[in-house]
Amino acid sequence: MSTVVIIGSQWGDEGKGKIVDIYTEYAEDVVRFQGGNNAGHTLVVGNETTVMHIIPSGILHPGKRCLIGNGVVLDPQVFFQEAEKLKAKGYFQNDAQLMIDPAVHIIMPYHRTIDVAREKMAGQRKIGTTGRGIGPAYEDKVGRRGIRLGDLIHPERFAEKLREALPEKNFLLEKFLGEPPLDEAAIFDEYRLYGEKLRKFLGNTAKVLHDSIAAGNNILLEGAQGTLLDIDHGTYPFVTSSSTVAGGACTGTGIGPCSIDAVIGISKAYVTRVGEGPFPTELKDETGELLRREGHEYGATTGRPRRTGWLDMVALRKAVQLNGLTGLALTKLDVLNSLATIRICSAYRCDGKLLSEFPTEIGVLQRCEPVFEEVPGWQCDIRAVTDLEQLPPASRDFISKVEKMSGCPVVLVSVGPRRDQTIQISNPFRSKG
Ligand code: GDP
Ligand code: IMO
Ligand code: MG
Repeated sequence: MSTVVIIGSQWGDEGKGKIVDIYTEYAEDVVRFQGGNNAGHTLVVGNETTVMHIIPSGILHPGKRCLIGNGVVLDPQVFFQEAEKLKAKGYFQNDAQLMIDPAVHIIMPYHRTIDVAREKMAGQRKIGTTGRGIGPAYEDKVGRRGIRLGDLIHPERFAEKLREALPEKNFLLEKFLGEPPLDEAAIFDEYRLYGEKLRKFLGNTAKVLHDSIAAGNNILLEGAQGTLLDIDHGTYPFVTSSSTVAGGACTGTGIGPCSIDAVIGISKAYVTRVGEGPFPTELKDETGELLRREGHEYGATTGRPRRTGWLDMVALRKAVQLNGLTGLALTKLDVLNSLATIRICSAYRCDGKLLSEFPTEIGVLQRCEPVFEEVPGWQCDIRAVTDLEQLPPASRDFISKVEKMSGCPVVLVSVGPRRDQTIQISNPFRSKG
């Protein structure tokens, strides 16, 4: 009877999908609590790869209930495409496996258009968003003019909300962003049908989760993006528009903080970032290229090449604190297989001063240079290792170093994309006894 939160400890793409898929075995409910289809969570089972953008990564397990909590923004078009793909592969055969909260905000066509047009207009100053309309959808949510799933399923209410929203959007599109206006009737017709089709998934997810916890079930909360992309705590403005830290799991589902038993941060053995913004340990050389090649570091959502760099313990320590991490899952250790030496950033140097804390001021962060410790590599293939003891000593030393420098125990090590390429050290779900 545990409630476990999975979050990204870096800038996203840490391997959250794989770990959620693995931990789903122990849970009854798997819940997305923030973000939208800016996420791309990859699951590899045998030779088959599945990328989840909006449906929780527990969906490959037929008996497990998946929930989309109130903190999520949902693009119905993407949702149905994803559902169809899953069904064609033999998953998600029973629609009752999924429940969506009525408070989920709908990503509308104008959100996508505004997102892309703003980025185009920003030129060099762009954020490098995924172009999925995430920021504009959250703006409308916070601005109290958003359209929620609970509105979409009532055609009259939806029509009224759309009629109120669209003139302002079209004014912005035409007069400021230089884009053609959108047609109200066409949007209404398309989205009214989505509302009808989504009705059967509707449910009070907070209540379902409260009852599930009371019944002694295990709950798995699936974060998207990563700590450094958090709207409050990340490298603002180069962030996403939701609370990606563990606290977001409470606001995005309605589960109280005292009901959370464990928070597992997923971290690669190095770092990647997609989009713009500071990245102190970034490598723009052959080693960076090697990490990109060996790690297949191309975006699961947009296909963009990911920026790569050495593991940054200054940033990881911040993630441990911000999320109250109880454990780390260290992924992609195998990507370092061929390296003779590996670097770990232990501190930053800025304006002649040594910094051990991640700066809150982006201008300071942009001037930071990494200070590295160098450790020997293992230079052998660890992709078939399933037991910690079988790992070469140099890779075990690397794991110990991460634990020591972060102050957080490593509970899982991932040595390849597949389910079976995993070393579980301890299980964050308490046994049900
Ligand atoms: P997420 O967004 O955090 O779920 O991560 P992504 O799915 O966007 O990116 C992680 C990528 O690394 C995917 O292609 C995974 O299949 C892959 N992956 C996950 N764990 C490992 C690992 O331990 N080793 C290797 N080589 N690949 C991994
Ligand atoms: P997962 O869940 C990596 C990044 C974008 C951009 C910034 C803002 O797969 O780890 P947005 O479209 O959210 O407004 O873009 O955030 N970003 C991600 N980077 N992984 C993700 O998700 C991301 N979701 C958004 O690249 O820099
Ligand atoms: Mg991803």
